[in-house]
Amino acid sequence: MHVSADLVCGLQWGDEGKGKAVDYISKNYDVVARFNGGDNAGHTVVHQGSTYKFHVIPSGVLRGCLGVIGSGVVLNPSSLEEELRQLSGDEKIVISKRAHLILPSYKLLDQKLESLKGDKVGTTGRGIGPAYAFKAFRFGVRVGDLFQDGLEEKLSEIRRLVESLNVEWIQPDVNHWKEVLAPYVGDDYKVLHEAYLEGRRILFEAAQGVLLDLDFGTYPFVTSSYTFTNGVHAGSGFNAKELGDIIGVSKAYTTRVGNGAFPSEIFGETADHIREQGAEFGTTTGRPRRVGWLDLVALRYAVRVSGCNKVFLTKVDVLSGLDKVGLITSYEVDGQRYSDWFDFSQGALELVKPIVEWCNGWGSVLNEGKLNANLLAFMEAVEGAAGAKIQWVSYGPSDHETLCML
Ligand code: IMP
Repeated sequence: MHVSADLVCGLQWGDEGKGKAVDYISKNYDVVARFNGGDNAGHTVVHQGSTYKFHVIPSGVLRGCLGVIGSGVVLNPSSLEEELRQLSGDEKIVISKRAHLILPSYKLLDQKLESLKGDKVGTTGRGIGPAYAFKAFRFGVRVGDLFQDGLEEKLSEIRRLVESLNVEWIQPDVNHWKEVLAPYVGDDYKVLHEAYLEGRRILFEAAQGVLLDLDFGTYPFVTSSYTFTNGVHAGSGFNAKELGDIIGVSKAYTTRVGNGAFPSEIFGETADHIREQGAEFGTTTGRPRRVGWLDLVALRYAVRVSGCNKVFLTKVDVLSGLDKVGLITSYEVDGQRYSDWFDFSQGALELVKPIVEWCNGWGSVLNEGKLNANLLAFMEAVEGAAGAKIQWVSYGPSDHETLCML
């Protein structure tokens, strides 16, 4: 029997609460797979009273799922080692032999590239961009290369390139890396294909969000990978035709770390309140996140481009207690209003004036087990504009603070 594989992806600029969503949903799956990004992503999971910090390991491994780290991921073995230390060692993990390694000098190169830019991207400084760039230059080192002849020559070539850019070369401890990675190296495509044929349920877990996608995000203020449906096949070899549900995660408001256009951004007391209530400080870098209202124009775009058919709405509790809650319903450009706006590039977005409509605020999310009527009206406005149903509403970090709307 074949069952389809599903995807969870972010509909905003990352940090939508995908960690919680995946943790909640992954109970229904046997395999959870990552296909993009690296240790720029991060989430904290509380499982059976213990707290775990994950960057590339799918949290589903804690409940016995097979965790797959696909070819499209860029891997820093030192940071992976930290993650692995939190586990018991009984977890099942396969790391693609095709995943590219983040070498120590790439972090320095990340900083150097930022310093050369007038408009800084505000990267996480983890060497993500250089790792993907070296991959595209065909100068990359893949996980499988660690176990093959010719590694020293490859590293020497990279060293020459790095030094030609006046960046210090830091020799990686490849013998240690081999020890760390050896128990897990495999073929993502093969493992996923076999799992699929055996009728095992597969959940793909995207990192970052649609608006940070290299091509469909707010370029150049984006990450360097394919962050939604487009990345599944590219980053794991899994047949894209077999994808079933595309579950998009969105907060009830918006945040962004790093620079770039953010039409619905707000400042002042309300922004500070939301930032504090929502603990909106980067998991990977600790940076305070920029805050804004939920942007329905951007959400509609993200739903369309990703093919999202189910929305997981998060953090509605953070807005509890506000008198009114804003929703951006259209953009105004040269006196014309657009609720469908397809150009999410930086230059175009700088020109738009966001039009805000106000919803009545809500107090407690649930009253006698029923969603607050004002929150329900807010959700209906979101569904209408986004063109996808909200299937789950999350109103706190733990699993039981989730309402399934079925
Ligand atoms: P990089 O991925 O480190 O190259 O950073 C590029 C941009 O993506 C920066 O604006 C980062 O703040 C942003 N970014 C990368 N990963 C995440 C994430 O997991 N959540 C939110 N923003 C991220």
